[in-house]
Amino acid sequence: MRFLKKGDDKKPKSQSGSETKGHPDLKVISGSQISGQQPQQQPPPQQQQPQQQNITLPNIKYKIAVASGKGGVGKSTVATNLAISLANAGGAVGLMDADAYGPSIPTMMGIQEQPKVSPERKLIPLVRHNIKLMSIGFMVPEEQAMIWRGPMLHSSIRQLLSDVEWGELDYLIIDLPPGTGDVALSLTQAIPLTGALIVTTPQDVALADVRRGVAMFERLGVPILGIIENMSYFLCPHCNEKTEIFRKDGGKNTSERFGVAFLGQIPLDAEVCTAGDIGVPIVAGHPESPQSEAFGVVAQELETVLEESDDEDELTIL
Ligand SMILES: Nc1ncnc2c1ncn2[C@@H]1O[C@H](COP(=O)(O)OP(=O)(O)OP(=O)(O)O)[C@@H](O)[C@H]1O
Ligand SMILES: [Mg+2]
Repeated sequence: MRFLKKGDDKKPKSQSGSETKGHPDLKVISGSQISGQQPQQQPPPQQQQPQQQNITLPNIKYKIAVASGKGGVGKSTVATNLAISLANAGGAVGLMDADAYGPSIPTMMGIQEQPKVSPERKLIPLVRHNIKLMSIGFMVPEEQAMIWRGPMLHSSIRQLLSDVEWGELDYLIIDLPPGTGDVALSLTQAIPLTGALIVTTPQDVALADVRRGVAMFERLGVPILGIIENMSYFLCPHCNEKTEIFRKDGGKNTSERFGVAFLGQIPLDAEVCTAGDIGVPIVAGHPESPQSEAFGVVAQELETVLEESDDEDELTIL
């Protein structure tokens, strides 16, 4: 067990590329134009990949990654509904879709258009359900999303952070692709994250995946803020009876095992799925439903963890 002082910058330095290509509207913002560098200030060709520097985003209080060891456990669903719950509780919230291999947040939030570029050549986030939204999916055609080259991916993640008019935010929720890959690395190299949330399902088999996720963030020096168990139980829409379809309390037991906070359980529910498909997340469409209440509990628990960490100014990681 070791303690990490909040805001510590222990991220490794790396090289960045400048090859982002994508939607025609967005091409204009790549490279030196955004950073305000004049041509004469550019490094000579052999140094075109400068030393990485962290982006600080001082106007964003909490930068939180949503991750999982494996795919399809509900990261994007949780990220979306959690963001809206935090906004409903009065927070100013941004949602960044960093899933380069399957960006799904625009669909889940009901967004079809592309972001516009401001006169200062910054991307203006789209706003839906009171959330500011940007997606890496806006930067490449859909069919290209599976063939990212390392530097291009790295550069796009940085663009989503530094070249977007996020404004003042309490929370920036960042939806990651599944597993332990390049995107998480690029993200942690770019900004000091407040911490990461791990989404899991209750089965025993998910345990190993959670362990991998926790280990990755530990290696990257990012505190784990908590575990969220999704698809925990089936809530009968007729009689409200709970049925534990998978194993009971797997996520809770896992969080105890890893010594991290357990933030709550989200029911397995057809409405949650449909709501994501039609672009009106359940917390936005049915804020009074038991499913939305479950997301509200997670948001509250997260706020508590963050307040405690503010008080102590340090977070415990494994
Ligand atoms: N609690 C839930 N009840 C019912 N369906 C759910 C629930 N959570 C997620 N789903 C559905 O499961 C599918 C996968 O969810 P989602 O896309 O959020 O997972 P993910 O972890 O982000 O996936 P990926 O790893 O591919 O990014 C979606 O169709 C979503 O609507
Ligand atoms: Mg996803």
